[in-house]
Amino acid sequence: MSLQDDVKRLTAPDILARKGGDPIVMLTSYHAHTAGLVDQYCDVILVGDSLGMVMHGMETTVPVTLDMMILQGRAVMRGSKRALVVVDMPFGSYEASREQAFHAAVRVLKETGCGAIKIEGGRRMAETIAFLVERGVPVMGHVGLTPQSINTIGSFRAQGRDERDWPRIEDDALAVAQAGAFSVVIEAVAEPLARKITQAVGIPTIGIGASPACDGQVLVLEDMLGLSPRVPKFVKRYGDIGPGIGKAIEDYAKDVRARRFPGAEHTYGMKTKKL
Ligand code: KIV
Repeated sequence: MSLQDDVKRLTAPDILARKGGDPIVMLTSYHAHTAGLVDQYCDVILVGDSLGMVMHGMETTVPVTLDMMILQGRAVMRGSKRALVVVDMPFGSYEASREQAFHAAVRVLKETGCGAIKIEGGRRMAETIAFLVERGVPVMGHVGLTPQSINTIGSFRAQGRDERDWPRIEDDALAVAQAGAFSVVIEAVAEPLARKITQAVGIPTIGIGASPACDGQVLVLEDMLGLSPRVPKFVKRYGDIGPGIGKAIEDYAKDVRARRFPGAEHTYGMKTKKL
């Protein structure tokens, strides 16, 4: 915290301490202005690599780079004051070795000022998570559906539809918790499994398309606002701003075409104060 700051930001240990307590409210944001709005109501802001799909129209999160995450992470830090900001580590920036993950995570923490990073993967990433946490990098895990693995899993379908897969997914969450993660996102898994994991691990679980039994929930902001063209079935729409934005742009275009130039009355030399 700098000397000028009067609001104390939530930290990874604050979120860890919420296990089994008040639900943790988390949303994504990639820009300063939406971060300012999300910050007023949420405990955690996730600068998700979903920005590749939401902001850049990519088909998957695979092409997202570390530089993209750092740029938007900085914007979100500028726009927010109170929430813990977690920045996603993009595909290819952390899987090769613990050292690769550490160097990439250090860039994210130093260049954005965020409070934690998020890594996809369970048991296979546990050693890396422990390495990072021991060296001062707070890590949020992410198990169940891990969208960065799209090219090996084949689709964004819910995980654990077959009960025989449950022990593996539960083991992933346990491994992440034992490695020292301060919380774990559980994405698109069957409700009873998410409930079981939440009871089994000592860290907060944050569900997305998982279960109300999780310790918190996260959604992609544009999905819940009704701005994304395609949204997963489980997303509740709390807004419908897409059509509102379309209508505003239509009205603007009509004005300009009719030479009713918006704001023209304030053009310099007319009603504005003399310079
Ligand atoms: O990238 C993202 O927005 C995420 C959430 C869907 C959890 O990882």
